[in-house]
Amino acid sequence: MDRKSFLKKAGFLAIGFSAFGKVVRAADDPTAFEGDCETTNDILGPFYREDAPIRYDLTTQTDRGSRVILQGQVFGDDCETPIKNALVEIWQCDADGEYDNTSPAFRMRAGWKTDNEGEYAFKTILPGKYKNGRLYRPAHIHFRVRADNHQELVSQVYFEGDPHINDDPWASHPSASKRILPIVLEDTKGNLTVRFDIYLKSNP
Ligand SMILES: [Fe+2]
Repeated sequence: MDRKSFLKKAGFLAIGFSAFGKVVRAADDPTAFEGDCETTNDILGPFYREDAPIRYDLTTQTDRGSRVILQGQVFGDDCETPIKNALVEIWQCDADGEYDNTSPAFRMRAGWKTDNEGEYAFKTILPGKYKNGRLYRPAHIHFRVRADNHQELVSQVYFEGDPHINDDPWASHPSASKRILPIVLEDTKGNLTVRFDIYLKSNP
């Protein structure tokens, strides 16, 4: 079945379909874009701290854990216009599953302002896991993203293959599916990257 007849059969012709990060033209108005790229929210959790330092590198020599470059671009809800000067904040636990909730070092916490291409990047470690009641939460990194004229995003990313995703009510929610990310082995030196592009909704 080709794409058009599938859409017709599914009754979604007026809505349109797109892959993540792509837009399609609305069938009834070829000048209008409709997309499904907006990044979904997740819970803030109890461990957010204001005023994390603006820095690329969250790691120190004494931190255990695999280093990873976490990077991406921030876009508007046309799914393609980069947003510069967006404040991307991340926070996570360390390899032992511990958050730094008090120290002035703001361990495993940082913010970054996107450049003209909407790009951000952090060097961090793959987070450990911690218990939420009886169960472990899957490894995750928290995000808070703010930009002028856009709705604030609070979210989390998870990692493909994590055995704790299925039992976690937030990670296993269908709205989180595009936030379960592959960890990419970039080269033979063991350098790892994770890419998370972020799509903000405009203010209403
Ligand atoms: Fe958390």
